Amino acid sequence: MRPIQMVDTRTQYHKIKPEVDKAVIEVMESTAFINGKPVQEFATNLSSYLGVKHTIPCANGTDALQIAMMALGLKPGDEVITPSFTYIATTEVIALLKLTPVFVDVDARTFCMDVSSLEKAITSKTKAIVPVHLYGQASPMEEIMAIAKKHNLYVIEDNAQAIGCDYFYADGTKKKTGTIGHINTTSFYPSKNLGAFGDGGAVFTDDDELALKLKMIANHGQSKQYYHDVVGCNSRLDSIQAAILNIKLNHLDEYISARRKVADFYDKAFSGNPKITTPFRAAYSNHAFHQYTLILDGADRNGLKQFLADNKIPAMLYYPVPGHRQKMFEQFNAASQVMPVTDWLTERVISLPIHTEMDEEQLRFITTRVLEFINK
Ligand SMILES: Cc1ncc(COP(=O)(O)O)c(C=O)c1O
Repeated sequence: MRPIQMVDTRTQYHKIKPEVDKAVIEVMESTAFINGKPVQEFATNLSSYLGVKHTIPCANGTDALQIAMMALGLKPGDEVITPSFTYIATTEVIALLKLTPVFVDVDARTFCMDVSSLEKAITSKTKAIVPVHLYGQASPMEEIMAIAKKHNLYVIEDNAQAIGCDYFYADGTKKKTGTIGHINTTSFYPSKNLGAFGDGGAVFTDDDELALKLKMIANHGQSKQYYHDVVGCNSRLDSIQAAILNIKLNHLDEYISARRKVADFYDKAFSGNPKITTPFRAAYSNHAFHQYTLILDGADRNGLKQFLADNKIPAMLYYPVPGHRQKMFEQFNAASQVMPVTDWLTERVISLPIHTEMDEEQLRFITTRVLEFINK
């Protein structure tokens, strides 16, 4: 059996190696390492894949969130609502910009922002909402956008984990996640569904005025060369990464369907087990399965992780400490916020290997070992 990994970017690369190598060599020969042709080409192609007017590439998904928040002109002390149950990047940039993170709980089935917690968290200082499409499935965007409209708030979708996911409106229309909020962001971290061979990220909007601001902010606040109108930052996707991403974008749907096949195998193997809850499939979204995350109840989650490690099966806890309990947010007294679902999930979730290169032999081995431990 091939060794089991959480992600296998090497095998994935080998399948597209001639194309990728050629594109990388072309950039090296052109010496246009920064802002070369592939950067604009990739932005244009990604805009048309997603169905969004503007794609602004940048250095990583954390910068993308920062640039998005800077473009909204938020002031120190303004409150930004975000789930506690997410990767630290989402919440960290809020504090970095001297804004106040306000954590809300998640839905126990979807792992995404709980709409009733969101409504309760809105105050006169609230300026923006940052839903996170955790593990690859959408947050309830139609409801979130309606609440935002009612209270005149901005929405920034953190789509780092769900690029390629479809959101279905109640009237049957569909949109890609990352195109619904006012500004949206993603990450091209290598293990992501659309992963670069290094760091990368992007910001998206349909709003022409915001797009101009976002572009300026990502480029030292520059309106034309050496004229700097606002304080910005230096956040660029380099040409080599863009050239690679441009090739991988053509495979994104196929990568997502490979992930869905893995998820289906796991679902079937674990179905009906009273101690295992497999990922819930919301009716308003499909699932891009960036992660395959189980909820274990009445089972020793940490013991299972160790047992799997002993059997050379990696597994991960995303995330072992929720945002509101992180030391960096003590200044906001965040731990005093009541987040029962987040705390409950934090003790029970475990993510199994899922990627585009998994075979049945590996999946059979993983599921057999998981069940052996759970049923003992
Ligand atoms: C939900 C979420 N937001 C933001 C980020 C940050 O992206 P990056 O690592 O590219 O800065 C990540 C990446 O891990 C993420 O999972």
